[in-house]
Amino acid sequence: MNPEYIRNFSIIAHIDHGKSTISDRILELTGTVAKRDMTNQLLDSMDIERERGITIKSQAVRVMYDADDGNTYQLNLIDTPGHVDFTYEVSRSLAACEGAVLVVDATQGVEAQTVANAMMAMNADLEIVPLINKIDLPSAEPERVKTEIEDGLAILADDAILASGKTGEGIHGLLEAVVGLIPPPEGDSEAPLRALIFDSYFDAYRGVVALIRVVDGRIKKGDQVRLMANDAQILVEEVGARRPAEVAMPELVAGEVGYLVTGLKDVSQVRVGDTLTSQVNGAKEPLPGYREAKPMVYTGLFPIDSDQYEPLKEALEKLALNDPALVWEPETSHALGFGFRVGFLGLLHMEVIKERLEREFNLDLIATAPSVEYHVYMTNKEMLSLHSPQDLPDPSEIEHIEEPYLRATIMVPPDYVGAVMTLATEHRGTFKTMNYLSTTTVEMIWEIPSSELIMDFFDQLKSRTKGYASLDYEFSGYKEGALQKLDILLSGKPIDALSFIVHKDKAYDRGRVLCEKLKEIIPRQLFEVPIQAAVGGRVLARQTVRAKRKDVLAKCYGGDISRKRKLLEKQKQGKKRMKAIGNVEVPQEAFMAILKVD
Ligand code: GTP
Repeated sequence: MNPEYIRNFSIIAHIDHGKSTISDRILELTGTVAKRDMTNQLLDSMDIERERGITIKSQAVRVMYDADDGNTYQLNLIDTPGHVDFTYEVSRSLAACEGAVLVVDATQGVEAQTVANAMMAMNADLEIVPLINKIDLPSAEPERVKTEIEDGLAILADDAILASGKTGEGIHGLLEAVVGLIPPPEGDSEAPLRALIFDSYFDAYRGVVALIRVVDGRIKKGDQVRLMANDAQILVEEVGARRPAEVAMPELVAGEVGYLVTGLKDVSQVRVGDTLTSQVNGAKEPLPGYREAKPMVYTGLFPIDSDQYEPLKEALEKLALNDPALVWEPETSHALGFGFRVGFLGLLHMEVIKERLEREFNLDLIATAPSVEYHVYMTNKEMLSLHSPQDLPDPSEIEHIEEPYLRATIMVPPDYVGAVMTLATEHRGTFKTMNYLSTTTVEMIWEIPSSELIMDFFDQLKSRTKGYASLDYEFSGYKEGALQKLDILLSGKPIDALSFIVHKDKAYDRGRVLCEKLKEIIPRQLFEVPIQAAVGGRVLARQTVRAKRKDVLAKCYGGDISRKRKLLEKQKQGKKRMKAIGNVEVPQEAFMAILKVD
């Protein structure tokens, strides 16, 4: 296709502002998907995405649009996730586009990820088309939102599209703006092939499929191509476009977005960000890559049944095929046995992966409290990157410990500035700056240790600001901290999987509250279970779970056998999420209790 009639764009927004809904309407208006086949959020293909109403993986879809100028345009639309954990997916998608539609909810206005995503699009030199969504709602305030877009993002918003993903209003105007404002792709279809891989996934029948943006040249079935980073050779089995089902095409040319069936069996060979070129007379220079995903939190995942260790490993390998951000190493715990220390982009990413492991692979897992990566400087001058508190060396060998910090952007109405100040300070935050985006929105910048942010910071922020605050963050560097390991002892024995690293000033409070929480969570056993929190052998707090036999059959008067069976069955279900540590049954919540101790 003549590149003049191609437009490649992403839809970016703060979470829940309506990207996926807008994409749905575009698919419908262009007749890509017949109305009767429409399910909501069509591009969110994973079950978990639909259930939670969030987008996790980026998606690319091609639609054909008959514009008012009489021409038919090929629009390649890339839906992107909005949650901060998945920011790296956004940066990948943007690298394949010339433009971005910035969706802002007319009732919420500019929020933290609106700013973060808009900045990313600007840095990638994309043409930005602002769209104010949900104007069907009575509480919509498009004029206020326009001011916020102009003042806060420095994007002209006079001509912002006013739209509703619900009613479809404004979608035609949006497509006209996409065609009129976003530049067509540049690139030379006669030059040697250069195509950017912006996503890849594993198809059980066809092997690794890569989503590509052809920048120069052309590519078709039967071509011999190679990946420039690792020199893997590929015989192209098929190329085509997703509409949204895969449709094979004779070729993809410069400017187009599509998929490529590689025939490779190992997705790790097809690195996202790599450049594809021809084996003969290929390009000399690869395309610029983009930001790699780096895990923010680490957690131990242990099978409840030790027979599930190998299946867990295989499941992680399978999930990693589609998720370059997922990393892990084996971990052994005295308490929990053999498992893995797994790195995630954030807590949502962690929850999603854990849920998928349990659901799609039928595994019963215990996840230990998330931790960040500490840098431990030893007296012998070595530096240890620590992902698990249980690996912390003896204090006598430690020179100092550094912890990761985040630069957090918090947006709130002015009335809640005080509440945010209190909360951020409680979490060891340092105030940086504050600026008014409009009379209704203040942007505050803080520097906060990552370990504090992964606690229930976000939930607290939401509750203390009645849901008005939004949060975005990025890694800002390592700083020294007075950190120590807090041990939790059950029946006098330290339980490695419950230990965590804490700031000296917080050790006492967190230890005390955690003991209280654990006392509620750990069910009564046949014997008494003392719970203690200690630092370096010094006990800071203590609670006791009193002994009691929970006789579920007592109420059955010995009569009704089927009822008895049902109760026992129920009890067994309840037990499923327990792990016997020594002779104490510890439920999953115990390991996460540390996240809720404020
Ligand atoms: P993530 O994929 O999680 O980042 O969210 P998203 O931005 O894709 O938002 P999504 O399309 O899932 O919409 C969020 C919610 O807003 C859903 O409940 C939609 O039904 C609703 N919604 C979207 N657009 C409109 C609109 O124009 N009007 C109204 N009333 N509701 C809308």
